[in-house]
Amino acid sequence: MKSTEQLKNEHEGIKIMLEVLESIAEQVEKGRVSRLEDNDIRNTVTFFREFADKCHHTKEERELFPTLEKAGIQKEGGPIGVMLDEHEMGRNHIRAMLESLDDLAESEIAAEKFVDNAYAYVELLRQHIEKENDILFRMADLSLGSDMDNKLFQRFEEIEVKEMGEGTHEKYHKMIDEYRKKFLR
Ligand SMILES: [Fe+2]
Ligand SMILES: [Fe+2]
Repeated sequence: MKSTEQLKNEHEGIKIMLEVLESIAEQVEKGRVSRLEDNDIRNTVTFFREFADKCHHTKEERELFPTLEKAGIQKEGGPIGVMLDEHEMGRNHIRAMLESLDDLAESEIAAEKFVDNAYAYVELLRQHIEKENDILFRMADLSLGSDMDNKLFQRFEEIEVKEMGEGTHEKYHKMIDEYRKKFLR
C-alpha cells in the first residue's frame, strides 16, 4: 500500500465520524442532549482528538509534510502551510468542544459553544480532506519514489504504536463501524 493510500483510508473513517458528530450537534442544537448517551458525545470528540489529530495529523505533520518539503514542495505560501494552519484551527475547535462537554445539559451557553464548534469543525475538516486527497496527495504520489514511500509507510506504522499504543488504532476502527451503525441509518 502507498503511504497516501493509508492516509486516504483514514480520511474515509474520519468522514464517517464527521457525519456522526454532525448528527450529535443537530440533537444538541434541538435541545435533545438527554436523548444522547453522554459517553457517545465524549467518545466522538475523543475520537477526533486521538485518531484524527494525535495519530493521523501527526503522520502528516511529522513525516509526510517534511518529506514533501525535501522533495521540493514549498511550505510557506503553499499547500503544506495551509494544511498546517487548518490542523491548528481544528485543534482549537476540539479544545472548545471538550471544554463545553461537562455543562452541555445544564447550560445553553455551553450547548451553543459545542454546536458552533462542532459545525465549524465538520466543515473545516471536510474541505481539508478533499484538498489533501485531490491536491496534496496527488503531488505526493508524483514526487515520492517507491523507496521514500516505503520508508514513510513504515514510519506511519511506528507512529500508530508510539502515539496511540498497540491495538488502539484497531479499537478506533471498530468504533467507526459501531457508530456508523448507531447514528447513520
Ligand atoms: Fe491534514
Ligand atoms: Fe489528512
